[in-house]
Amino acid sequence: MLRLAEIENSRRSSAFGDVALGEMLREVCDMYEPIAEDKQVALSVNIPAALSVRGDRDLLLEAVANLVDNAIKFTPRNGSVELELKRGEGQTILRVRDTGPGISAEEHEAVLRRFYRSDKIRNTPGVGLGLNLVSAIVKLHGFRLIIHAGPGGRVEIVCPDEQRGRT
Ligand SMILES: Nc1ncnc2c1ncn2[C@@H]1O[C@H](COP(=O)(O)OP(=O)(O)OP(=O)(O)O)[C@@H](O)[C@H]1O
Ligand SMILES: [Mg+2]
Repeated sequence: MLRLAEIENSRRSSAFGDVALGEMLREVCDMYEPIAEDKQVALSVNIPAALSVRGDRDLLLEAVANLVDNAIKFTPRNGSVELELKRGEGQTILRVRDTGPGISAEEHEAVLRRFYRSDKIRNTPGVGLGLNLVSAIVKLHGFRLIIHAGPGGRVEIVCPDEQRGRT
């Protein structure tokens, strides 16, 4: 078991490289466009500059896809979801915003637990694993996951510059 974990680890870090984030966000947007359209949720992507981070592209894409999946799922019909790439002080920020109910401050910790699902959303499908996975992927990269309080959903993956060049 230990060996398996070791192999998995070395395989993982060897998959680390420069990830062009704008391109990755557009890919996620394309993947979810049909689902958003079906639900009449306007999906948009805002990429002001070409930015990249060091990481595992497949895993980062999976993390962002999970955030977009949630944003579309929990946003009522005729709402909107925006993917944004931003530059902050010494950091690059991937942000997913939606016009749904958002996540209350009291639930910030709970939503990261496996199988946790808010009482308010019992009628939407899901098992409650998405954010737990996102959190693990973010940690593996040395990034931070920030969940802002509602109204409106706003979740960010914050990637500090010092992670650049890490092997
Ligand atoms: N954008 C959002 N707006 C409102 N609530 C959210 C949002 N994202 C997550 N949540 C809340 O956090 C809970 C956990 O999210 P998570 O992605 O882990 O599970 P899920 O989407 O319910 O199921 P799964 O991702 O396994 O299909 C959700 O059930 C919901 O209560
Ligand atoms: Mg989910």
